[in-house]
This record gives sequence, C-alpha cells and structure tokens, in this order.
Amino acid sequence: MPATVTEDLVFEALRGVFDPELGADVVDLGMVREVKIEAGVVVIGLALTIAECPMRGQIENDTTRKIEALPGVEKVVVETRAMTRKQRSELMEKARRRARENASPTQVAPTTRVIVVGSGKGGVGKSSVSVNLAIALRGLGHQVGLLDADIWGFSVPRMLGVTEARIEADPDTRLMQPVEAYGIRVISTGLIIESEETALMWRGLMLSKALEQFLQQVEWGELGYLVIDLPPGTGDIQMALARLLPQSEMVVVTTPPRTAQKVAIRVADMARRSAMPVVGVIENMSYFETPEGQRFEVFGKGGGQDLADSLNIPLIGAIPLDPTLGSGADQGRPVVAVRPDLPVSRSFEEIARRLVELVPPADAETCTGRIAKLMAAL
Ligand SMILES: Nc1ncnc2c1ncn2[C@@H]1O[C@H](COP(=O)(O)OP(=O)(O)OP(=O)(O)O)[C@@H](O)[C@H]1O
Ligand SMILES: [Mg+2]
Repeated sequence: MPATVTEDLVFEALRGVFDPELGADVVDLGMVREVKIEAGVVVIGLALTIAECPMRGQIENDTTRKIEALPGVEKVVVETRAMTRKQRSELMEKARRRARENASPTQVAPTTRVIVVGSGKGGVGKSSVSVNLAIALRGLGHQVGLLDADIWGFSVPRMLGVTEARIEADPDTRLMQPVEAYGIRVISTGLIIESEETALMWRGLMLSKALEQFLQQVEWGELGYLVIDLPPGTGDIQMALARLLPQSEMVVVTTPPRTAQKVAIRVADMARRSAMPVVGVIENMSYFETPEGQRFEVFGKGGGQDLADSLNIPLIGAIPLDPTLGSGADQGRPVVAVRPDLPVSRSFEEIARRLVELVPPADAETCTGRIAKLMAAL
C-alpha cells in the first residue's frame, strides 16, 4: 500500500519548524492558516508576521524540508502571506506568554540546528564523522556542541582525548557544564561515569531517559549547531530525539558497497516516520588515495549516490579511507584538527560547507525593525 500523508502528520511535522526570533514553532504561533492535501501535493498556507522579514526564506525552506520528509509527499507548495493586525497581536501575546513561562522543554535553544548522525549498521564511521564534522563546523566559525548519544558504547571522549575530563554541575543552577575540546562543547556518558557504581546507575536508566537528561540538564548555551552521534542499531534514541528536539535533522552515513544500502534505507525510513527530515547522505571510506593522487575504490562504488537517489536527497560528500583518521582518533587527536592539510580533512571541510548550505544557521540576528513594526502595529 502506498504511504499516504495526513493532515495530522503535516501538523506534527510543522511543530518542528521554528520562528527562531519568537522561539516557538509555527503551529503554536498560529502561523499555519491552511493545509491542503491532494494526491501527494501538500499546500501549506503560512501567515508571517510581516511579509518582508528576512526570516521568511528560512521558515519557508524549513517548512518545505519537513513536509517533504513525510511519506507519500511528492510536492510541497508553501504560500505565505502577511498576518492581519488581529492575528499579529494574538501572536505577540502568545510569544510574550511563552517567553514568560520559559516553556522550552530542553536546554537546547530553538535557534540551534540539530544534526543527527545515523547509519543503518554499526562501524561505518558515525562517531568519526560526528567528531570531525563538529570540528569542521567550528572551523567555519559556528558555535558547536557534540552530544554522544551512544550512552553505553560511547567513543567520543576517546576520539577527542578527554577521557580524563569530568562534567561538572553549576552549583546554583545544577545544570551540567559540557567539557570543551577543540573548541566544541561535548557531553557523553563517558565524561560522567566515575566508578562501577555510577556505571550501573546509568545502565539502569532507560536510554531515552539518559538522553532526556542530556537535553534538559545540560547548559548547552547558544549553539549554532548541535551534532548528535547515534548509537548503532535500535531506533529508541532516534524516536526519543524526534520527540524531544523537533528541530532534529538526520544525515545518514554509509559505505560504498551497494549491498549496504538496504539497512541504511531502513534508518532513513524510521527517521521519516518520526518526522525527522533526512538532509543527505555521507559516503565514508569511499576510496583510498595514494600520495601520488591515484584513487582506488577499495569497497566498490556508487553506494552513497544510490542511497541518496533512492531517498531523493543529496549526497553531501565522500570521505576517503585514511589510516590517519583512525590513529588520530586513538590518540585523541582528531584528524581535522591536527592534520587539516590531508585530503580526508579537506573532505570534512567540504561536507561541513555543504551542510551549512543545506541547513543554514538560524538567523539569530533579530530583525529589530520587524519587532518595532510589530509593536507599532499592536
Ligand atoms: N574514513 C576512514 N578511514 C579510515 N578508518 C576509518 C574511517 N572512518 C572510520 N574509520 C575507522 O572505522 C572504525 C569505526 O568507526 P566509528 O567508530 O566512527 O564507527 P561507528 O559507526 O561510530 O561505530 P559504532 O556503530 O560502533 O558506533 C574506527 O576504527 C575508525 O577509526
Ligand atoms: Mg559510534
């Protein structure tokens, strides 16, 4: 049976579209005025506060991407119009009330772009990609957080050389403070566990509960991007993330063999069902390049592109096989940070750039003119 999209699913997905300035989602803000579904074409009528705000493009893009990710959607049409004076004053009242209640359910700012790194099977390089991508994003000038969601099988502290560091809580707010490494803010169970006893305590927690703690009790601060390294296998964490951080978007890491793609599709499918858009595919261990520049496609060819094609999303980039990446990880010296000159590091930089194009940073700059106009209109 072909998948069909329903109005409920559309509204659920739209809850992941934020007006970064007002800090709430477009459904809550009453900006969704109309949803029409006809044979795979979804038409969404959005009422923006004022027509000329720079936020417009971002909200339209986010809406399109979130809805396109739903099963059975072939085309998305976003029609924007300006709110009436009455709608605007209702919205401002809501936004103010929300700000007063400080209703954000997590410590992750609504302006933070959340990039979830997943894969169909284990060992394809999710953690390596998460760590090096986070550092590459930092290199582009963004504030970056890295959440190791592999609660039991954490590898991020080792890869960043911070296995001895421990997370501390602020004595006043009791919020956990991330550990800084290579300019990024890091949280991992590996930075908490002190003894067998605490290890047992964490094991007793349900995975999704542990994740909830990391999102609600960590002072992440103002991040442009939060990169999340998923554990292999189960979908629990993925489902919990979609619920806790509706702005999450996934990148799928895969390897070149064509046979590897079936499992990767399963993950992307689960992401879609939980209304998490899949931004693109990263092919890891793509080829081996000799110092003379000769390339060998050791593991076959075309898997990443095939997967991207079948999911109808872009291939964000390809990462070569390079033993320096592994040895760097073992020594806590990530290749992107310590050997930026290597082709493998340059591939991460390219991927980071492409990702920033696909998921542009939320414009934290307030359109002061817009707020002033809004106030004047009340
Ligand atoms: N491009 C690469 N070149 C060389 N080695 C790589 C590359 N990518 C990953 N590796 C190595 O492959 C192994 C698995 O990588 P990594 O731990 O990042 O995978 P993972 O998907 O996070 O695994 P898991 O599913 O267990 O969490 C590591 O030893 C890593 O150093
Ligand atoms: Mg891993």
